[in-house]
Parts: sequence; structure tokens; C-alpha cells
Amino acid sequence: MSATDQGETRHIDLRSDTAIQPTPAMLEAVQALGFRDDLLREDESTNALVQQTCTVLGTADAVLTPSGTMSNQIAVMAFTSPGEEVILGPASHVRNLESAGLAANAGVQIRCIPVDRGTYDTDALARELRASSLQVARTGLISLEATYDLNSGFVTPLENYRDIRRIADEHDVPVFLDGARLFNSAHALGVDPREIAQHVHAVQFCLNKGLGAPLGSMLAGSQAFIERARRLRQRLGGGMRHTGWLAAPGLIALQEWQDTIAADHRAAQQVAERLDSVVGLTVVNRPVETNIVSLQVDPAVLSIDAFIEALIARGVYVKRIGDDRVRLVTHRSASTDDLERACTAIEQTVRSA
Ligand SMILES: Cc1ncc(COP(=O)(O)O)c(C=O)c1O
Repeated sequence: MSATDQGETRHIDLRSDTAIQPTPAMLEAVQALGFRDDLLREDESTNALVQQTCTVLGTADAVLTPSGTMSNQIAVMAFTSPGEEVILGPASHVRNLESAGLAANAGVQIRCIPVDRGTYDTDALARELRASSLQVARTGLISLEATYDLNSGFVTPLENYRDIRRIADEHDVPVFLDGARLFNSAHALGVDPREIAQHVHAVQFCLNKGLGAPLGSMLAGSQAFIERARRLRQRLGGGMRHTGWLAAPGLIALQEWQDTIAADHRAAQQVAERLDSVVGLTVVNRPVETNIVSLQVDPAVLSIDAFIEALIARGVYVKRIGDDRVRLVTHRSASTDDLERACTAIEQTVRSA
């Protein structure tokens, strides 16, 4: 029996929704597969996943990649030329957590515009879009994120997407959406994912994270874009053979996301409400909009490292996101009992400090 299966000693991992475990149905789907080669486009479940992605997002085509990071890199490489600029929000994953891939892979530089709780400053966007001149780099792409800020999970309003697209069209600049948590955004807005996707030229979403499949990302857009994306995926080493391992659970995730994500959001709100009332703790992203709780620990009460260590000793894992902050992400594999136990551990840790 593994450490995570042992009753009271079971670890509760709230560092990310990537800690989610596949459902029995996902594992059964993998066992039932006959594996074929996706580079030859012969794998049935991968082809079905591409089809389902197009239906859900309203796009012409899609491609499976191993990770959200690879999809983001491919998208930027496909839309831009070296020497151009990408406009994005300062907290974006693509800016901060992809090993400078935009510079190294695409040869572009970034220009940030302010984003307030997921709402992009469209005045700043209009100001910062640039045409090429002798000294100025042309804007090649606007890169958005859903949910915005992986430490807060903010939701961009539909009107903001609309305004961004209008401005982008006026300047003939494409818009890409890193929708690692697109379905969380769609649920929070109460819309189908395609109502968000219609405002951008291409979008990626992660099959793991809240959707709960073990691995993979879908990159979707026009046929011409995806054709280019397939070649870039191959160049980066992301072309894969027996992708049914990823696609079969992914297909199930796409069928079941509504209930899973609704439960995660409710759980995050409950956790936030409870912890915010503890002296020494502040939920900094209240009201919590999706499945991410950003928690500040008063340094006068306890240092952040001591807080994290004390929680690990109690079997609870949270992620450090700053000198006085951690994040907690709710997901299907952290049950109501687990969250109750985690909140109690956090309260006891702070009260006994
Ligand atoms: C907003 C955002 N984009 C992209 C990624 C990258 O996804 P992956 O870990 O699959 O590369 C993440 C991962 O957490 C993310 O939060």
C-alpha cells in the first residue's frame, strides 16, 4: 500500500489541480484501447479527441500536445516572427514559467499590460500595440490566459475578450488564449467554452489540471494554424505515437468536466471563507472565482516556511507563492473530508504558533 493510501497518514496535495488522479472510467478506457500511431493520424481515440475538442470549442481543427507549455510555445512560434513583440499580462505562465521559451524558441520579446483581477486594461493594449519601424518591434501577438494568474485563478469577462478582439482586429494582430484552465473560466462565467474561444484565433487547454486526465493539452484553431502547429510540435519533439494513453482519458474528461469543476469551485469558496476568518490568515483573492485560493500568512504570526513545514508534518501540501503566501488548489482528488482535515490542520498550525 502506498503512503497516499494509508488512512490517516494519507497526504492531501493542494499544491495544484495537477495532483488530480484519473477516474476508474479513465483507467478502464485505456485498458480497452487498441493503440495506433498518431503521427500517421491513425489513433482512433486521438482523432475522436480532436473532433470533440473542435465541437466543444467551435474550432476547425486541433492537435494534441504533451503539455500546456508546449502548446503555448507552439502557438507563439506559429503566430510570430523573430524580432516581434508579444503583449501579455505580467502574471502570465508564458512569461514567467516557461524557461524564457518566448525568447529562446520564438525569438520574440514581451510587453506587459496591466491586468486587474483578470480584466485586461484595453486602453493600455491600444496604446502598446506597435507597427514596425526602424527602431520599434512590431506586435506579433496578444497572448491571454484563462484562468488568469495561476496563483489566483481570475476570470476574464466576456466583454473584455470582445474589446480585446476588436482592438486586435483594428491592428491586424492575432490573439492567442493560454486556456490551461479554460473550463474553469467557462464555468465561472456560466457559458460554453466556445463562447470564450470565439474571441481568439487559437486556444490551448490542459487535459490534466481541473479536467482530471493524467496528461496532455489540446491546441485548437484554424486548419492552417493547426497544420503549422503540427510541424512545430514535431520540431520540438512533441510528435507522439501511441497517444491513446492520453486521448482516451482526455475524451472522458471532456464529457465530465461540468460536475467536476462546479464541485471544485464550491469547495474553494468554502475553504476561502473558513480560512479568511482565522486570525493571522487572509485570503488575498477573495471573492474566490474558481478553484484557487491564495492565502497570506501574517509573518508576525508565523514565517511562510515554518507554516509549510508544519503543514507537511500534518500531511497537507500547499504551494509557496511568495514571502508570505501559499496557494491551495481544490480538485476532484481532494475530497470534502480531505479539505476538512486540511483546514483543521491550517487552523491548528496558525493557532499554535
Ligand atoms: C496558466 C497556465 N498555463 C500553462 C501551464 C503549463 O501547463 P503544463 O504544466 O502542462 O506545461 C500552466 C501550468 O500550471 C498554467 O497554469
